[in-house]
Amino acid sequence: MGELRGTHVPVLLERCLELLAPALGRNGRTVHVDATLGLAGHAEAVLEAHPDTVLIGLDRDTEALAHARARLARFADRIHLEHAVYDELPEVLDRLGYRAIDGILFDLGVSSLQLDVPDRGFAYAQDAPLDMRMDQTRGVTAEEVVNTYAHPDLARVLRVYGEEKFAGRIASAIIRERERGRITSSARLAELVRESIPAPARRTGGHPAKRTFQALRIEVNKELAALEAALPAALDKLNVGGRMVVLSYHSLEDRLTKQALADRVRSKGPVDLPVELPGSGPTFRLLSRGAELPGEAEVAANPRAASVRLRAAERLDPEAARQGRTDRERYRRRVKAMHQPGTGSPGSVADPRSTPGDGSGTDEKGEGT
Ligand SMILES: C[S@@+](CC[C@H](N)C(=O)[O-])C[C@H]1O[C@@H](n2cnc3c(N)ncnc32)[C@H](O)[C@@H]1O
Repeated sequence: MGELRGTHVPVLLERCLELLAPALGRNGRTVHVDATLGLAGHAEAVLEAHPDTVLIGLDRDTEALAHARARLARFADRIHLEHAVYDELPEVLDRLGYRAIDGILFDLGVSSLQLDVPDRGFAYAQDAPLDMRMDQTRGVTAEEVVNTYAHPDLARVLRVYGEEKFAGRIASAIIRERERGRITSSARLAELVRESIPAPARRTGGHPAKRTFQALRIEVNKELAALEAALPAALDKLNVGGRMVVLSYHSLEDRLTKQALADRVRSKGPVDLPVELPGSGPTFRLLSRGAELPGEAEVAANPRAASVRLRAAERLDPEAARQGRTDRERYRRRVKAMHQPGTGSPGSVADPRSTPGDGSGTDEKGEGT
């Protein structure tokens, strides 16, 4: 295992720790899952901050796991590091004998290890075999995708996963090139993409091959399907008061996260019913106002943070959520009554929105979208 190039700075580390602390710092042994262990920057900080917390770290990349294992060696008696895709979390927990967890972090995308080590093929700026598998022990490579997909499939991958406006032109250039010979190197692919994009468009939006490489990486690793399955499964495993934090780096990941959380924070009961029916209330509350963005200082210190979007949520006590709705309804009725002739003054109404754990709001950062 070689030395890593560059320094890896965990993204939004302080904010992640702050959000997870109420869940992990509770009395007794708490369980935290780092679903994307990587080089274990976040995981190490969690273990240092919470001496009674057990860490379950997942990564589909065996190389990342080896680095993480070395870095976390001093915590060996309270860590489980598992080679797994994060949508396998329920099976991993079963195998390890944990029924529920208190915290979970998803820091999505590729690690600096995957980007910096030239032979992985993720980086358009370095020449390497076109691999892009996070798990090099299984699955199809980017080389197979580029050399075997039909034009419509290639164009769809580039358009949907890369949000690439010139997807059709790039797919045509790839098909023409591979008729001359197999495309095997990341430098050749990056050059082909550059040539396919009209010169004026090349001058904006970063490196012309950035979107194509992102799209191929997402396709090769089936990233969105794994995330779509993993988020609800992870939410299901959180104890009351347990917290999930997700760091996304492009709009597709962030959209899936937003949808998974939106599904849990709204009531599924009839709108006009004064009380929440058992099982129909919100099961989570948002801890972030919409998607939180990094501050300027964070981006200056850590360029990888530039595109990050953070969302977080906490599992509610179902009884508190039910009570919150009852209080809100009582408040609504009293306000309505106040506006009837001959009834009380506004000063007599206690605002139930201050009720803790009412399931309607967010923490000190405000209400989420
Ligand atoms: C951005 S890095 C995490 C960095 C980490 N938070 C740290 O502080 O070092 C993302 C990691 O998640 C892993 N990963 C991505 N998708 C995954 C998936 N579906 N299942 C498991 N691991 C995944 C990647 O292999 C990579 O090592």
